[in-house]
Amino acid sequence: MEMLKHFHFAFSLVFAFLLLVHAQDQSGFVSLDCGLPKNSNYSEPTTKIYYISDADFIDSGVSKSISDEYKAGLQQQVAYVRSFPQGARNCYNINVTSRTKYLVRATFLYGNYDGLNKLPQFDLHFGPNYWDTVKFEKVDSSTIKEIIHVPLQDHVHVCLVNTGDGTPFISALELRPLTNGTYVTSSGSSLALFFRLDPGSVSNGSYRFPYDIHDRVWRPYTYSKWTQLTTTGTVDNGSNNKYQPPPEVMRTAATPINASEPLVFYWTPDDSKAEFYVYLHFAEVQKLEANEYRAFTVNLNGARLYDGIVSPTYLYTNTIYTPSALTAENFTFSLTRLENSTLPPILNAIEVYKAIDFSQLETEQDDGTT
Ligand SMILES: *[C@@H]1O[C@H](CO)[C@@H](O)[C@H](O)[C@H]1NC(C)=O
Ligand SMILES: *[C@@H]1O[C@H](CO)[C@@H](O)[C@H](O)[C@H]1NC(C)=O
Ligand SMILES: *[C@@H]1O[C@H](CO)[C@@H](O)[C@H](O)[C@H]1NC(C)=O
Ligand SMILES: *[C@@H]1O[C@H](CO)[C@@H](O)[C@H](O)[C@H]1NC(C)=O
Ligand SMILES: *[C@@H]1O[C@H](CO)[C@@H](O)[C@H](O)[C@H]1NC(C)=O
Ligand SMILES: *[C@@H]1O[C@H](CO)[C@@H](O)[C@H](O)[C@H]1NC(C)=O
Ligand SMILES: *[C@@H]1O[C@H](CO)[C@@H](O)[C@H](O)[C@H]1NC(C)=O
Ligand SMILES: *[C@@H]1O[C@H](CO)[C@@H](O)[C@H](O)[C@H]1NC(C)=O
Repeated sequence: MEMLKHFHFAFSLVFAFLLLVHAQDQSGFVSLDCGLPKNSNYSEPTTKIYYISDADFIDSGVSKSISDEYKAGLQQQVAYVRSFPQGARNCYNINVTSRTKYLVRATFLYGNYDGLNKLPQFDLHFGPNYWDTVKFEKVDSSTIKEIIHVPLQDHVHVCLVNTGDGTPFISALELRPLTNGTYVTSSGSSLALFFRLDPGSVSNGSYRFPYDIHDRVWRPYTYSKWTQLTTTGTVDNGSNNKYQPPPEVMRTAATPINASEPLVFYWTPDDSKAEFYVYLHFAEVQKLEANEYRAFTVNLNGARLYDGIVSPTYLYTNTIYTPSALTAENFTFSLTRLENSTLPPILNAIEVYKAIDFSQLETEQDDGTT
C-alpha cells in the first residue's frame, strides 16, 4: 500500500543520454524566464525550450538572481527571479488564444535570492480568483503550481499577492496549449495538478518537453512493493490517444513484486469535499506468449471505478479517466488481477487533478496592475 503525497520537487531533472530528439514544435508555448533582463532570450540546454524575458508582460517588480551555490544542476529558467517588494498585488498580463485549453505553470525557487535566508509565503491568483498559496520546504527546492484552464478572453492575468509573510517572487511562468477534448470536467471547472507520476520509471529524472509534446512534467515514482517492467520497443507516441502521454513514460510500468497481490495506492485529501479527476494510462510492455494474459479491474474504495476490464494492448496507450468528479475522505485505488489473468496488473502513468473554481470573471477594472 502506498501513500501518494503532493510533491514539491527540485529541478534536478536528469535527461540521461536521451537528447536524441529532433526539434519539436513549440508553437503556442509561452515560456517566460521571470527576472531575465529585458529583450534577452535563450534555448534551455536540457529541454531546448526557448525562454524569453518577462519584462514585456509586467510593469512592476525587480530582477534578482539566486545565490550561485544553488545554480548547479538546475534548469536555467530558475537562475533569475522577479521579486515584488512594492505593492500588495502584482500581475502578469499574457496574451493567449481565447477558448483554447491551456496548461499554466508557475515555478518558484527561492535560492536565497535576497540574501535573507528566510523562506517567504504568499498567494497566487489567476485574475480575480484565488489559485493557491505558495509555500517552500527548502531553499533550493522548487514549488510548482499548475492548472488546466480555458480562458474566455484573449489574455490572462497571473498575480502574486503579498499576504504579510514575505516578499512574493516568481522564477518562471509557462503556458502550453493542450488538445481540445482532453481533461474535460463535468462542471466546466478548471483543474489544479495534484500529482503526475511515472511509476516504474528506471530513470532518476522527470520527463517533460521534448519527450512530452505538451510539456507536462512526469515525476519518477517507485515503491518498495512494486517492481519495474520496461520495453525497448516504442510505445505508440500518442497519435491514436488524445492524451498523448510521452512514449518514454509509457515504456516503463510498475507491477506488484508479489504477482498475487493487487497494485494499490491511496491518498487522503485535506478537504473531504475536494473534487478529483483521475487519468490512468496503460500500455502492455511485455510481448505476451500465446498462453499469457494480463487483465485487471480498476477499483476505488472497494467498488469498480471502471466497468470494463483493462487488458493493455502491446505498445499502445489506453487512457482510463473519470468523466465526473470524485469525492471521498480517503481514496484507495486497487488494480486487481482477474482470475483468468496469468499476469499481475501494471500501471504506466497516472495523473490526478483537483477541481478549482475560477468562476469569478475578469472585469474591465482588473487591468492587471495593483
Ligand atoms: C533574442 O536575443 C538576441 C540577442 O541575444 C536578440 O538579437 C533577439 O532580438 C532576441 N529575440 C527576441 C525575439 O527577443
Ligand atoms: C497583446 O494583445 C494586445 C491586443 O491585441 C496587443 O496590443 C499587445 O501588443 C499584445 N501584447 C504582446 C506582448 O504581444
Ligand atoms: C473545443 O471543443 C468544444 C466542444 O468539445 C468546442 O465547443 C470548441 O469550439 C472547441 N475549440 C476549439 C478551439 O476547437
Ligand atoms: C539513479 O540514482 C542512483 C543513486 O543516486 C544511482 O546509483 C543510479 O545510477 C541512477 N540511475 C540513473 C539511471 O541515472
Ligand atoms: C508518431 O509517430 C508517427 C510515425 O510513427 C509520426 O508520423 C507522428 O508524427 C508521431 N507523432 C507525434 C506526436 O510525435
Ligand atoms: C503473496 O501474496 C499472497 C496473497 O496476498 C500471499 O498469500 C503470499 O503469502 C504472498 N507471497 C509472498 C512471498 O509474500
Ligand atoms: C486511508 O486508506 C488507507 C488504505 O486503505 C489506510 O491505510 C489509511 O489509514 C486511511 N486513512 C484515513 C485517514 O482514513
Ligand atoms: C477472463 O475473464 C473475464 C471475466 O471475468 C472475461 O471477460 C474475459 O473474456 C476472460 N478472458 C479470457 C482470455 O479468458
